[in-house]
Amino acid sequence: MSVLELEKKTGKVYIETYGCQMNEYDSGIVSSLMKDAEYSSSPDPENSDIIFLNTCAIRENAHAKIYNRLQSLGYLKKRNPKLVIGVLGCMAQNLGDDLFHQELPLDLVVGPDNYRSLPELIRRIRSGENSISLTRLSKIETYDEIEPRVVNGIQAFVTIMRGCNNFCTFCVVPYTRGRERSRDPKSIVREIQDLAEKGIRQVTLLGQNVNSYKEQGTDFAGLIQMLLDETTIERIRFTSPHPKDFPVRLLRLMAQNPRFCPNIHLPLQAGNTRVLEEMKRSYSKEEFLDVVREIRNIVPDVGITTDIIVGFPNETEEEFEDTLAVVREVQFDMAFMFKYSEREGTMAQKKLPDNVPEETKSARLTKLVDLQTSISHEQNRARIGRVYSILIENTSRKSEKQLCGRTPCGRMTVFPLPEERSASEMIGSTVSVRIESATSATLKGRILS
Ligand code: 5AD
Ligand code: SF4
Repeated sequence: MSVLELEKKTGKVYIETYGCQMNEYDSGIVSSLMKDAEYSSSPDPENSDIIFLNTCAIRENAHAKIYNRLQSLGYLKKRNPKLVIGVLGCMAQNLGDDLFHQELPLDLVVGPDNYRSLPELIRRIRSGENSISLTRLSKIETYDEIEPRVVNGIQAFVTIMRGCNNFCTFCVVPYTRGRERSRDPKSIVREIQDLAEKGIRQVTLLGQNVNSYKEQGTDFAGLIQMLLDETTIERIRFTSPHPKDFPVRLLRLMAQNPRFCPNIHLPLQAGNTRVLEEMKRSYSKEEFLDVVREIRNIVPDVGITTDIIVGFPNETEEEFEDTLAVVREVQFDMAFMFKYSEREGTMAQKKLPDNVPEETKSARLTKLVDLQTSISHEQNRARIGRVYSILIENTSRKSEKQLCGRTPCGRMTVFPLPEERSASEMIGSTVSVRIESATSATLKGRILS
């Protein structure tokens, strides 16, 4: 069959991805599954036969974005009634059939555990059915043997576990991603060695609760040890972990192996113990501070970043001040900061009033962001004069004559391309960079000759 005939029978698929890196990875899985079913991929929605939006549900604006995007795709559907539009990912799982009641140009709603059914569902839509949703959560689906199709540049993401059992009261993830399940460690080792052989230098291990990884007697530290011993991958990072699972063994591995980058994302969420209890985070303010102390004692020059929510139900001004105090004490390198937004189906939505006024949430967020920006700047300034081993990831967004990459501790660093070299020959190599100046977001430096 010629390519053209094949395209007529199946079609071209365009995928747009929203939200976290797990979604990016899952779009690669979808792309791979569609390719196996003889579909080809399309770089834009205009001339596609199928459009998938792989969505996020974690905060309020994530939903609003998708509604707007679907509305703006309506004209394509009018032009080509055979066009199939599907919503995938967490918002699909979260809202299910309800999405069909919003008068949106939409045919399919498919949750993250049902992507293997996509070719069959499309066939059914094409033979006349409409508004199909499939959002059954699975206890076992890990897409273990499916290799995602996105490998670009010198770094890749690899999902090692899916789902979450923690049920933090504000969070929709346990409902959209289901229970924790981990991939076979041998298949992870194989995938990463395969990537290393294709020229990938750095992998980021992904999971909604990545350090809860456990499979066939191998825990997260055990998996890292296997990757260090049995693959040639140059750098290993991971996200997102929970503060409850940082055993000393894991920290020692990080301290002793330069290939396991000293970079930890440690979501605080709130700095007051009563609020943390209401969030069901399973640690007190003091226990969080103990984890930070232990990390800093064991891992030299570690980068610590965090997530924080302001305006959780019943949060008082004093309790918010406790969050500011913890932020001052820990001195995070960087933080993602959010206003609480009530999510459908969560315990907080069922049991707690969303009673902090919007203006108060905004005022707290501004105060927190201002504080963290000055801390980030200070943390970055403290690195001036140091020399870091940096894997060159790309040219900088602003100039082809500037290169960029991360320090092992995770700080984005920009430095000039040496005059006699081209960017393409430099990307993927590891260089020593001396830091000369810093903003709150980036370090600037120069390659040592
Ligand atoms: N409201 C605000 N922020 C949230 N997050 C998760 N759920 C909510 C919510 N309902 C934030 C948390 C989490 C990050 C990925 O998103 O800080 O760690
Ligand atoms: Fe959500 Fe993370 Fe809590 Fe799981 S551990 S419920 S993903 S915030």
